[in-house]
Amino acid sequence: MIHIALPKGRLGEKAYALFEQAGYVCPSIREENRKLIFENQETQVRYFWAKPTDVPVYVERGAADIGIAGKDILLEYAPDVYELGDLGMGRCRMCVAGPSAFRDSQDSTLRVATKFPNITKNYYAAKSRQIDVIELHGSIELAPIVGLSDVIVDIVETGSTLRENDLSVLETIVPISARFIANRAAYKFKYNEIRKMSEAIFALCKGDAT
Ligand code: PRP
Repeated sequence: MIHIALPKGRLGEKAYALFEQAGYVCPSIREENRKLIFENQETQVRYFWAKPTDVPVYVERGAADIGIAGKDILLEYAPDVYELGDLGMGRCRMCVAGPSAFRDSQDSTLRVATKFPNITKNYYAAKSRQIDVIELHGSIELAPIVGLSDVIVDIVETGSTLRENDLSVLETIVPISARFIANRAAYKFKYNEIRKMSEAIFALCKGDAT
């Protein structure tokens, strides 16, 4: 049996639809309830819903053999897992954003609010720019508006959250999309099953296997 950690929410539902199309059906997952784990003996799969940021934790520690995680989360937490490919869904970009008139003067420490402190530190370290990272957990766009920070580092998908709060993209850091990840030991011991699954999935989606 393959244990699969899916991120709760829209991305997870889209990812499950792909697994289903590839033949890894599990009808009970479509029932309306609060259950977190679903299995199908026939197709030998066991799915569970995890908080998106926790998916790599389940996979890294072997509680899940494989999982679907955003590249943003993989860059931020750098889990020790195999990245088997890009599913080409959940596309967005990691950006620096702020008031469109903002100009970085370099003569003071830049205050950056974010949910992604490691991505932020790495990005500015590469530019040798001194920053003060202000770690928040949501509604990051609020920070520059109320004067908590100068800019933010955050995910931009449609851009509507920025627009509706009079903020703009100032710099693009990296494009983001959903990745198929595997536990290192499981990839060895369940190699045939996991390869068969990833090949079936990548044959269907617009992404690339690596
Ligand atoms: C994410 C992100 C932005 C927004 C971007 O927030 O942090 O706020 O989506 O999407 P858009 O470009 O399509 O407007 P999320 O919805 O995850 O909630 P959060 O602010 O509580 O983190």
